[in-house]
Amino acid sequence: MYKIVSRRELCGGIWEYVLRAPLVARAAKPGQFIIIRLHERGERIPLGIVDWDPGQGAVTVVFRERGKTTSQLVREYCPGDVILDVVGPLGNPVEIGRPGRVMCVGEDAWYANLYPLARALWEGGNEVICLVSTPNGSFWMDKFSAVAEVNLIGNPAAALRERLERERPALVWASGSPAMMRACSEICGERNIPIRVFLHPIMLDGTGICGSCRVEVGGEGKFVCLDGPTFDGAKVNWEALEVRLSAYREEERLALVRYFGKETG
Ligand code: FES
Repeated sequence: MYKIVSRRELCGGIWEYVLRAPLVARAAKPGQFIIIRLHERGERIPLGIVDWDPGQGAVTVVFRERGKTTSQLVREYCPGDVILDVVGPLGNPVEIGRPGRVMCVGEDAWYANLYPLARALWEGGNEVICLVSTPNGSFWMDKFSAVAEVNLIGNPAAALRERLERERPALVWASGSPAMMRACSEICGERNIPIRVFLHPIMLDGTGICGSCRVEVGGEGKFVCLDGPTFDGAKVNWEALEVRLSAYREEERLALVRYFGKETG
């Protein structure tokens, strides 16, 4: 059982939860994630570990209230309550290295994934520029500005294109919807700038057994839970990813209808 330490709505529909999970907090590294399950009959969902405090034994996740499980979490689980499972840290830590100037582009709740990455890059002596956007507001600008130049933007792909006209980073990172990461990958590809992306497909076990997180990268099948969650954006088969992500859309809609007792739009 894992206790909820605190929670807050960061901006319209985007939530931050701090969970007590000492073993995860002690081992977490940038780029890794957890899989949580709220209760015995709950589905498993992956969430990026976007901050952690080994001293307090706490890890932070940020997500948009979207599907049935995130809706249930926000509506029924408050500080002091417990959730059944927190498994992690899963996935491969990001290799930080010394690339020099790095541009990080993020949208919506997914941009929280960029924070531990930006912090580690900054600690490693790199220059970090973050371009972030949400449809309604912003969050963690103070945290980001402690480790990076941070800019609140509108359309992420347009902002990246505009910025790349003026300067050339050694590396770009993108964390957002598949459409956004695909657009950013194409923009970088046109300029021969390497780009890494955070993929977030459906996951069940997180150990390479169920196959639900399979993606195609560089013409090869990869499991995001084992081989990711970050990949070379230029090599991702974005069409195949879109098809996979939409495979359970009807089931997800029905689960929401069952939970709310009506269509939620
Ligand atoms: S989540 Fe099952 S193989 Fe990756």
